[in-house]
Amino acid sequence: MISDILQNLNPGIKGLHPYEPGKTIDEVMLKYGHSEVVKLASNENPLGASPKALEILENNKHELHLYPDGNGSKLKEVIADHEGLLDENIILGNGSNEILELVARAFLNPQTSSMVSCHAFAIYKIVSQATGAKLIEVPTEKWGHQLKKFPTYLEENTTVIFIANPNNPTGTYNSHDEVYKLLRDIPSSVLVVLDCAYFEYVTKNDYVDPLALLKEFQNLVVTKTFSKIQGLASIRIGYGIANSALIEVLNRIRQPFNVNSLAQELARVAICDAQHIEQSVKLNSLEGNKLFDKLTNLGMECIPSVANFISFKGPFVGQEMFKKLLERGIIVRPIDVYDMPDFLRVTIGNKKDNSRFLKALEELL
Ligand SMILES: Cc1ncc(COP(=O)(O)O)c(C=O)c1O
Repeated sequence: MISDILQNLNPGIKGLHPYEPGKTIDEVMLKYGHSEVVKLASNENPLGASPKALEILENNKHELHLYPDGNGSKLKEVIADHEGLLDENIILGNGSNEILELVARAFLNPQTSSMVSCHAFAIYKIVSQATGAKLIEVPTEKWGHQLKKFPTYLEENTTVIFIANPNNPTGTYNSHDEVYKLLRDIPSSVLVVLDCAYFEYVTKNDYVDPLALLKEFQNLVVTKTFSKIQGLASIRIGYGIANSALIEVLNRIRQPFNVNSLAQELARVAICDAQHIEQSVKLNSLEGNKLFDKLTNLGMECIPSVANFISFKGPFVGQEMFKKLLERGIIVRPIDVYDMPDFLRVTIGNKKDNSRFLKALEELL
């Protein structure tokens, strides 16, 4: 009987709700019969992948029969240069989510606890709970992480703090000073994971300088991804930077060939594609401001965001409006799983997609 097997499930996995990804364009086309669908659901880059990376894809002959470089040496060299660190300070992941999971597996177990902010990126909860660790959630203020409160919520067995900066789905961020003070005020035995998936989009002067923090604190891992500004979400690649001893520990439990050859090659070029990054930031700022204003004019309550998405609340239940928009071929994200049932999250797209979304929303209000 299946229940015989399931009774042996790790206790942390028993009550776990899996991550729900955004709907795909194909799914919506098939279900609603649309020939054109607008996807503003997963914070992808409306400009697409780095053109330099696409060139590599077209022009290179790929040796698909060979295993990838398990150490990712060439890519690590470029990342090291980009971050001002050494190869030994870098770990590559199958998306930055993998790094988050490696940290959880390495430092959490049923005798420990992890700490996150309320409304923080969902993966932290999943990777923590899967280990059987207790999850401590710190209340937000104006939807933002209250890092100054984190030390007071620490328990004796807390080993990991996850911080999304900026946070998904709220789009809020913490300043360098706030993160610095947190690191200063907690025991050095507590590992802080600073998730900077949307790093390049942030144009605030007081935003974090990861290198400065890493120079001073050894209990810090910073994660970044190629899925967002570099537009390489489908090939799954991200990385973590930290003290070399910490990287060595995480490498012990990493699958030997976790990042495929193509991802390594494309990421190596994309990280240096300054023009694509600059254009993406510009478009995001321009369209983001317009979208924010137009949503506000429609009577929505928008959370100010420094990232490439906006969460907003209106006179509706998020799930219901999400379904109505789907029927019109517009995919956004309901965020009731983040305890924000009255909100929707929309990715800042290009002018055309944003207009289609706004038009549909206006008609449905
Ligand atoms: C805050 C945050 N961290 C990490 C990730 C995961 O990114 P990746 O595609 O690198 O696994 C996301 C993806 O949406 C995110 O929003």
